[in-house]
Amino acid sequence: MSLALELVPTPLETWEGECLLLLQTATPEWHLPQPLRDWDQQRWQGLLQETIQETQFTAKAQTTCAVRLPGPIRKLILVGLGDNPTLETLRRAVGTGLRQANSLKAKQVAISLPEPFRDPQGVRAVAEACYLTAHQDTRFKSPSPDSDKSFQVSSISLLAISPQPALTVALTQAQEIAAGVILARELVNAPANIVTPVTLAETARQLAQTYGLEVEVLGQAECEALGMGAFLGVAKASDLPPQFIHLTYKPTGESRGKLALIGKGLTFDSGGLNIKTDTRSIAMMKTDMGGAAAVLGTARAIARLGIPLEVHFLVAATENMISGRALHPGDILTASNQKTIEINNTDAEGRLTLADALVFAEKLEVDAIVDLATLTGACVIALGSEIAGLFTPDETLAQELLAASHSSGEKIWRMPLEESYNEGLSSLVADLKNTGPREGGAITAALFLKNFVHKTPWAHIDIAAPVWTEREGGYTNKGATGYGVRLLCQWLLNRANQN
Ligand code: BES
Ligand code: MN
Ligand code: ZN
Repeated sequence: MSLALELVPTPLETWEGECLLLLQTATPEWHLPQPLRDWDQQRWQGLLQETIQETQFTAKAQTTCAVRLPGPIRKLILVGLGDNPTLETLRRAVGTGLRQANSLKAKQVAISLPEPFRDPQGVRAVAEACYLTAHQDTRFKSPSPDSDKSFQVSSISLLAISPQPALTVALTQAQEIAAGVILARELVNAPANIVTPVTLAETARQLAQTYGLEVEVLGQAECEALGMGAFLGVAKASDLPPQFIHLTYKPTGESRGKLALIGKGLTFDSGGLNIKTDTRSIAMMKTDMGGAAAVLGTARAIARLGIPLEVHFLVAATENMISGRALHPGDILTASNQKTIEINNTDAEGRLTLADALVFAEKLEVDAIVDLATLTGACVIALGSEIAGLFTPDETLAQELLAASHSSGEKIWRMPLEESYNEGLSSLVADLKNTGPREGGAITAALFLKNFVHKTPWAHIDIAAPVWTEREGGYTNKGATGYGVRLLCQWLLNRANQN
């Protein structure tokens, strides 16, 4: 990341530099703040006021007003926050403003925040938005002289903020969490011929080596020994070896708890013999390891930040392919908790890999398990492109995750684990089928998973929708979103502080 971000005590009145982003909360009679009104008269002959009037800027959320000036400030961008701005309004406004600055070819930017946001939460939100807006994944493009597409802003100062300890901590948190998000984004953006199960395992090993985590990767034989028939059933058709990744963060001092995070790690999902017939759907299936990416991104951030909790990061990594060894519809698999599963649809493979990962997690005797998975198209239909589905029988865990969602800005919505829908999973020949009816598909998928957790508080988050976006705006760039890292990090930070 080549973005320098710093807190500077310099007040707005005395700052001089290339580009100023002025974030403004809307008021009934919004007008330009005082020092700028005077400057505008003295230095710019009222050009700024004139532009504001012309563009009818009133600080409404997500509106901007940009002016080129003769100096010493050469570009000034007003960004509206609307009334009652939240941290999410702030992040989006910062993203919007930076995009505008970038399109004006600014390299050095200063941001002036409304007073109430000059606290740790505000600083963290702004800094995260800066890093996330700036990240553009151009790894697979030839370098071109036409650099128009890449982000050019290289230094950002947050004005009128003295670097006190709590604020510096917030800045570090933002930087490490953003780096985790970027790791996740890059893993998801990379296609299936580049990120394979072995690549995911190598990434985990590298994280372990660089940041002092413990890592163990179980291959085919070790998974067989553990009886992971569900995971290995999915892996059978692939020419690539399955990898069960177990990465562990242990705090240096006392530990106040023990948690497990599981990420679905299908580096490609063709559907298997129930092949995905829609060209666009199958072409998106490099994103089917978005849960794994989020878990690895979180591991990176947590290892760098250090928290008094032991955290286990688990990924059952493989691909869902077709070959002479592929699962046949109708096959029966035995998972590592001895439950038998009739495969009535080979495209419902994620839940099979998660089943064995959940059993493994429970054996670790953790206080709670959270899994993130691009699990169902049904969840995309239910909640639309930005919101993940939260499924949990545990009230406390639900409230914790909803709170983390609220402050991190990664949206989740609680969905029901309707017990009566279990009927849809009943099989004539085995303990259960892997898919129920089309209706309520996200719910039956979650109910399927519930069969593999017995006593540990558990939550499942279906991230099929937010793993990827075609929209650009605010602090969101097109492509992989790195969804889940901010949510999980916030949940872990909250848990670390609460006990
Ligand atoms: N990986 C897909 C789910 C998915 C869909 C992720 C769209 C991202 C975007 C999953 O393995 C799958 O194929 N699910 C099936 C389940 C069905 C067979 C019950 C689905 O949603 O169609
Ligand atoms: Mn599938
Ligand atoms: Zn899948």
